[in-house]
Amino acid sequence: MNINDYLKTSKILDGTFPELESTPDSPFTLFNKWLSDAFESGSDEPAVMVLSTVEDHTPDSRVVLLKAVDDSSLYFETAKPRSKVRQLHGNHNVAANFYWPPLGRQVRIQGTAVLTDDFSHVADNLDAPERDLNVYHIIPYRFEFYQAVTAGYKRFEYVLEDNRWLQHTL
Ligand SMILES: Cc1cc2nc3c(=O)[nH]c(=O)nc-3n(C[C@H](O)[C@H](O)[C@H](O)COP(=O)(O)O)c2cc1C
Repeated sequence: MNINDYLKTSKILDGTFPELESTPDSPFTLFNKWLSDAFESGSDEPAVMVLSTVEDHTPDSRVVLLKAVDDSSLYFETAKPRSKVRQLHGNHNVAANFYWPPLGRQVRIQGTAVLTDDFSHVADNLDAPERDLNVYHIIPYRFEFYQAVTAGYKRFEYVLEDNRWLQHTL
């Protein structure tokens, strides 16, 4: 088959998906639940996220691994001589995207990615204590959750305003 024939036949969000539960006050509670569900449901590589950065108004994306989460941040690591290190030095704004196909779920995160050496509480999850890596934590200010349902989808966001997470249906 030629590539456009493959594209015509590709199926997305084809399955039975979980009901959307009531939403907690903190997006981290829901993110941790959805990420745990992705591990438990056998999603391939559930901790993989697409991380987007911007340099001189030009976006760039790549896959990185989420290495740890705490109450306010998501942690990833990278080698030092990398484009993303230069890009993040000039502009801390990032977007991160998780997609867990078996669950029909996507999470979009916007925030700032800051180089940190304050990671002793998650050091067990990191390679940096043994290797010369940069550790960044993403501090989100917006989460968008997408849940496929039988006939369509549900989408809602949490936005940080005055240190409080506000929820909106989209
Ligand atoms: C499954 C997968 C996981 C990856 N995990 C990481 C990672 O955790 N950190 C990282 O710096 N690069 C990771 N990479 C490589 C990046 O996608 C990218 O190719 C590399 O970091 C260079 O990106 P940059 O030039 O934008 O800095 C991963 C790639 C794949 C396919």
